[in-house]
Amino acid sequence: MANNKALGTGGRKSDRDLKIRVKTAKGRKVASTKWLERQLNDPYVARARAEGYRSRAAFKIKEIDEKHKLFRKGMRVVDLGAAPGGWSQVAAKAVGSTVDHPLIVGIDYLEMDPIPGVILLRKDFTDDDAPAALVEAMGGHKADVVMSDMAWPTTGHRATDHLRIVHLIEIAADFAIEVLKPGGSFVAKVFQGGTEHELLHMLKRHFNTTFHAKPPSSRSDSAEAYLIAKGFKGSRPAEGEITPEA
Ligand SMILES: C[S@@+](CC[C@H](N)C(=O)[O-])C[C@H]1O[C@@H](n2cnc3c(N)ncnc32)[C@H](O)[C@@H]1O
Repeated sequence: MANNKALGTGGRKSDRDLKIRVKTAKGRKVASTKWLERQLNDPYVARARAEGYRSRAAFKIKEIDEKHKLFRKGMRVVDLGAAPGGWSQVAAKAVGSTVDHPLIVGIDYLEMDPIPGVILLRKDFTDDDAPAALVEAMGGHKADVVMSDMAWPTTGHRATDHLRIVHLIEIAADFAIEVLKPGGSFVAKVFQGGTEHELLHMLKRHFNTTFHAKPPSSRSDSAEAYLIAKGFKGSRPAEGEITPEA
């Protein structure tokens, strides 16, 4: 439990004092102090705790779903980069996934606590055998929604970070095209300036609509946004696509 004294919240009860201020402590970097202060003052962090979600990120997919109607009862969903599990929790509730009849499969290279109604794979999605492992976990069924909140930890080298993120989004999109049912949706975290023209063009050929969204719970000072593609046209080659047989 936060110690008010240590956090410097004693004194007057003006609006200013309602914000929890964190004093720098010996050994704690300024960035960590700022992060802690932001977490303690973030209404979504408090809501996540109150509503039993494992992450504030849960509200991002909740808000996207409320606005863009991704989930319906009985749908099958794949969650790429699932840890600690907020998106899977939201999806499991929305589609009515149960332990006896799981409809959600999540993957992350980090260990996760189990979530009822969600099959979790601890694996790097970029491994060659990851797509097959996901399909197997889905019992060979196609998915209605493929959603990705994946992001690599940044290296600090802008060009490298950009390439790594674009690569992740591209393989997530390729996977979605392989496993979605006609009419299905793909959602992926992107970074402003990070959605390559070619990728967007490819998605436009395979989906009826593609657009970017910045849900209210996504911090305004963060470059992240979500790419949403709806109305998958089906695995057959899209119009104009050159195939080896053509
Ligand atoms: C922002 S977090 C996801 C939060 C999650 N949507 C939630 O609501 O709890 C991004 C996750 O992507 C995972 N990730 C990044 N690259 C990955 C990869 N190549 N394979 C599997 N997971 C990956 C990270 O380990 C991290 O847990």
